[in-house]
Amino acid sequence: MTPMQNEWPNFSGVPEDDILTLPRPRGQTLARWIWWNGDIREASRQSVHYYANALHYGTAVFEGIRCYPTDDGPVLLRLEDHIERLQRSARLYGMQVSYDAETLQAACVEVTRKNRISDGYLRPLVYFGEGPIDLKPKRACPVHVFIAIRELGTFLGEGALRNGVRVTISSWRKFHHTMLPTMAKASGHYANNVLAAHEAMDRGYDDAILLNQDGTVSSATGQNIFFVKAGRLVTNDETSSIVPGITRDCILRLAEEDFHMPIEIRSFTREDLLRADEIFMTGTAAEVTPVRELDGVEFATGRNTAAAALQRAYLRAVTGKDPQRADWLTRV
Ligand SMILES: Cc1ncc(COP(=O)(O)O)c(C=O)c1O
Repeated sequence: MTPMQNEWPNFSGVPEDDILTLPRPRGQTLARWIWWNGDIREASRQSVHYYANALHYGTAVFEGIRCYPTDDGPVLLRLEDHIERLQRSARLYGMQVSYDAETLQAACVEVTRKNRISDGYLRPLVYFGEGPIDLKPKRACPVHVFIAIRELGTFLGEGALRNGVRVTISSWRKFHHTMLPTMAKASGHYANNVLAAHEAMDRGYDDAILLNQDGTVSSATGQNIFFVKAGRLVTNDETSSIVPGITRDCILRLAEEDFHMPIEIRSFTREDLLRADEIFMTGTAAEVTPVRELDGVEFATGRNTAAAALQRAYLRAVTGKDPQRADWLTRV
């Protein structure tokens, strides 16, 4: 018995199925059809005006939603929660969205069905369109909404889910929630993440973790951070200027309800991470990705880790193999 199995005997009870080895799309092929301002259109015929306010000032909000194959056909994961977050993000930026939640949810289903995609990623995006050169787009710019979809397999590369990734602490700090509303998924906020991701790539790492100004950890460029130390699962919350992820919420529920793990929600430091037994990251695109190295320090990955058990439980749930989590899934 490993220490992990002693701590949580039911970790070893997670069935070893073949979810990790299921064939998944290798590319990110764009779909033919897009939902655009109310109807399904040929995607290649749509364009964004060169004076769209969003292009100049980052005034767009968006979501990323996964579509998974199940035995009963494709499903969208936590659709209601994603649409609710989109609406809250739009409201924060003064965008009047002409479509209600039910319409946007139905549109996500429709565009997925129309493109016959089962392993995919939806990108609903709301943006301020063309208008005068000023910083008050809510006064004169139209609000456009589209929902695009493309194929997506594993996000951080083949093997990332199984073997983990190498990450570095970025020299770029995360902006504080008093500077921009960090809980909103707004395009302009992502310039910070792009700088950090480029820096990580240039240093030869897979991804970066951004610290807050006070030295506590915020998140990775598109993922929330968890660590496991002495049998406890730790993650931070919105007071650490994170986007509180929907995947994060899934993992917290699985950890509590299926594994009865002790959970601590608190801010933590780089040192906490370096002293952890395991680190992993969660996000719609990256799913549950273990971290095998943080700036030269190695961490446990693979069988008998908490991350692997939570990852398997998550992948089972999102592919319709966990009846208790059927309410996370919307059938297409
Ligand atoms: C900065 C950031 N943090 C966290 C997340 C994870 O959120 P979710 O699990 O809802 O995809 C994302 C991705 O959406 C993100 O971009």
